[in-house]
Amino acid sequence: MDLKDLNVLITGGGGTGVGAGICEALANFGATMVINDLDVDKAKAAAEKYPNAIAVGADIGKGEEVARMFEEIKEKVGPVNGLVNNAGVGLSRFAHEASEEEFDHLYDIDIRAVWQVSKFFVNQLLANKMTGNIVNVSSVHAHATQPRYALYCSAKSAVQGLTKGMAYELGRFNIRCNAIGPGLVKAEQNYDLIKTWADDPHQWEADFINDQQVIPKNIFPVDCGNTVAFLLSDFSAAITGQTIYIDAGTTVMIHNRGFIEGR
Ligand SMILES: NC(=O)c1ccc[n+]([C@@H]2O[C@H](COP(=O)([O-])OP(=O)(O)OC[C@H]3O[C@@H](n4cnc5c(N)ncnc54)[C@H](O)[C@@H]3O)[C@@H](O)[C@H]2O)c1
Repeated sequence: MDLKDLNVLITGGGGTGVGAGICEALANFGATMVINDLDVDKAKAAAEKYPNAIAVGADIGKGEEVARMFEEIKEKVGPVNGLVNNAGVGLSRFAHEASEEEFDHLYDIDIRAVWQVSKFFVNQLLANKMTGNIVNVSSVHAHATQPRYALYCSAKSAVQGLTKGMAYELGRFNIRCNAIGPGLVKAEQNYDLIKTWADDPHQWEADFINDQQVIPKNIFPVDCGNTVAFLLSDFSAAITGQTIYIDAGTTVMIHNRGFIEGR
C-alpha cells in the first residue's frame, strides 16, 4: 500500500497503545500525519519519531479546542483527507455505581468528540471539494461485554452507530467511514484497568489470551494500525460503514477454549 497522498489527523496519537500502533503503520506506508494529543508533549514526542509528522495539542472533548485545532492544521498543512478517531478513555465501573462526572467524561471523549472532530473534518473536505476517509476506534465491547463495562460498551456501540449513519450520509460525497474494534491489545495502560478486578493483571492477560481468543497470541498496537492503513487506502474503496474486529477471534467464540477443552 502507498499512502503518500494521505494527510491524516490521528487523535490521541501521542499514546503508547493503539494510537502509537496507528502512527507506526501509517508512517510505514508513507502517510503524512498530524498527531493530536491532550498532552502536547506526548504528541510532539510521537511526531519526532517520523519524517512527515507534526504535532497539534488539543482537548478534543472541548468544541472550541477542536475548532482551534482545525485552524492550526489549515495553516500548517492545509486540509487533511484522512481522520482516525483514536483518542478514548476507559472506565471500569458498575453502571449503577458510576457518578455523573464519570459518565460525562466517558461520553465526552469516547463519542461526543468522535462526532465533533468528524464534523469539522467533513466540513473542511466539503469546503475544499475533496474526498476523504474516517476510521473510528470502537472496541470488542460494542459486540459483547463484561461486568463494570456497561457504560464503555454503550459508548463504543454508539461509535459503531455513528460509523454506519455517517457512512450512509457521506457516501454521496465519496467520503467513507469505517471503524476498527480492537480486542485486548498489548498496552501498558490496560494493566491499571485490569487491576480493578484481578490481583495479578499480567496473569489475567495470559489467561485471557489462552482462553478467550481463537488465536492465542498477543494483539499488538501495530496490528490495529495496519488495518487502519488498509481502511484509509484505496484497497478498501468499496468498504464503508463497517467495523473490523482486531481481536484474534474473541468475538466469534460462543464458548471459551477452556470450557470446550474441558480445562
Ligand atoms: N488498549 C486496548 O486494549 C483497547 C482495546 C479496544 C479499544 N481501545 C480503544 O483504542 C483507543 C486508544 O486507546 P489506548 O488505550 O490504546 O490508548 P492510546 O495509547 O492510543 O492513548 C490514548 C491517548 O488519547 C489521549 N487522550 C485522552 N483524552 C484526550 C482528549 N480529550 N483529547 C485528546 N487526546 C486525548 C491520551 O492522552 C492518550 O495519549 C481508545 O479509543 C480505546 O477505547 C483500546
